[in-house]
Amino acid sequence: MAHPALTADSVAVVTGGASGIGLAAARRFAGLGMTVVIADTRDSLFAKAAADLRAAGAREVVTAEVDVADRAALEWLEKDVAARFGGTDILMNNAGIQPGSAMFGDDTVWHRVLDVNFWGVANGSRVFARRMIERGRPGAIVNTGSKQGITTPPGDPAYNVSKVAVKAFTEALAHELRNTEGAHLTAHLLIPGFVFTDLTRGGRTEKPAGAWTPEETADFLLASLNRGDFYILCPDNDVPRALDEKRMSWAIGDIIENRPALSRWHPDFAAKFAAFVAGD
Ligand code: NAI
Repeated sequence: MAHPALTADSVAVVTGGASGIGLAAARRFAGLGMTVVIADTRDSLFAKAAADLRAAGAREVVTAEVDVADRAALEWLEKDVAARFGGTDILMNNAGIQPGSAMFGDDTVWHRVLDVNFWGVANGSRVFARRMIERGRPGAIVNTGSKQGITTPPGDPAYNVSKVAVKAFTEALAHELRNTEGAHLTAHLLIPGFVFTDLTRGGRTEKPAGAWTPEETADFLLASLNRGDFYILCPDNDVPRALDEKRMSWAIGDIIENRPALSRWHPDFAAKFAAFVAGD
């Protein structure tokens, strides 16, 4: 059973679509013959990305220099897509940054990470959904979260907070859409594993063996949309789904078992966590 919006007459808008996971997803949408709009801040990547999307079979391609942290720019984009093509059918709020953060570090980093990773997704959804609902056509909103928004590992608190917010927002969006009369829209939370992209490259030229490619991630996304999954939990070559399940289960267990916060990384719980993962 295919998702009803994954058809050639759909219009897909992908933020952060000039590279990585966004571009790979845009390529898959193009491969279905859709009109594809990619919005990104890095216009230097547009010519190559547009050529890629045309070669993949896109009906039409538009590149738009948009900073998703700027709500007015998102409003302009939504209107521009509506004026050109009648509206949007698939919206993928995927633009994200991970500059690194510290608990007591620079305020501007915290604000920028939240502005792009959370507000970019929330405003993208809120700005586009209205006309997507009114159109009455089948559609989908895919928001890119992270496993760091579920198990919240130490090391990058601003990023974790932004991705926790994306998860909560997208869950609420799914509930809202399924209770909105006349809406034929589904919402989905894409939870990539470790994917080799500009975000995670860190100076490397070769994909680490444990990472997935953006293309593998996009294929998993499309298969999951066709299955109707809300939580699109991607494995990678190091972390199978079963291990993610253990890690998530341990994380929620911190509350249920009244353990310290982030006990997975607490020395007193290291052995217990290892035993839990091993199934002892
Ligand atoms: P990427 O860096 O290749 O792609 C992100 C794109 O977003 C870039 O083209 C960038 O120019 C664009 N972008 C950044 N800030 C923007 C803004 N303010 N407005 C518009 N565009 C902007 O990295 P990747 O890995 O493809 O990231 C895509 C999403 O996947 C992000 O939300 C990231 O947090 C998420 N993610 C990635 C993982 C990975 O292992 N690569 C793991 C989990 C989540």
